Amino acid sequence: METEDKREKLKQYYFLIKGCSKCNLAQTRTNFVFGSGNANSKILFVGEAPGKNEDLQGKPFVGPAGKLLDELLSIINLTRNEVFIANVLKCRPPQNRDPKLEEIDVCKNYLFKQIEIINPIIICTLGKYSTQLLLNTDEGITGLRGRVFKIDGRYILPINHPAAALYTPSRFEILKLDFKRISKVIKIIESGCDDASITVEYDYGFQKNISKSNVINDDNKNINKNDKNDDSSATQLGLF
Ligand code: URA
Repeated sequence: METEDKREKLKQYYFLIKGCSKCNLAQTRTNFVFGSGNANSKILFVGEAPGKNEDLQGKPFVGPAGKLLDELLSIINLTRNEVFIANVLKCRPPQNRDPKLEEIDVCKNYLFKQIEIINPIIICTLGKYSTQLLLNTDEGITGLRGRVFKIDGRYILPINHPAAALYTPSRFEILKLDFKRISKVIKIIESGCDDASITVEYDYGFQKNISKSNVINDDNKNINKNDKNDDSSATQLGLF
């Protein structure tokens, strides 16, 4: 897909789904948090769900955990503008409670479609929820973080959620190590080497076939025709 095509497709998809009312979170959200960043990035970060700041601003990771994420990105010489950041849930659970299974179940196809459009080479899952969803496993994050998986031709790198490091500084050191591993995997991919120099685990869990997702043809009712082509809203969203 051409560079501009991906952004355009994401933008159209945003306008298609931003009025979603498939679960109760629609009633309490301020904003639908689609995700933001570079539609052409090779790297996608997937968090859990918007918190208070994200809900208010309509962008992912803009609160304290986001500051930490920025810091970790800068350690490996990346900025937010070079990656794409999304969440498993697009709407804030009240009081930041954990996502419910039924919420994940209705929202996951939005993420799968974003993955299909962006077609990243690496997906870094931040914390338990995105890791378990994308690896299709119940295994805990502690046993999965730091490992490198390859599913449907994509690398999946689970790491701890940055929020976990906010209160436990030793976890920040672990996150730094995991970010350095991300950087190493990127370098290996960019150098055209095969996977020999990293330990890659293939076909972990049951494949979901994200790349051929059967996503979503029943969302047309959510289109707001007035803002369908409003590029300034997409820019405000941080989509570029
Ligand atoms: N935590 C998340 O998982 N996502 C956000 O967007 C913010 C905090």
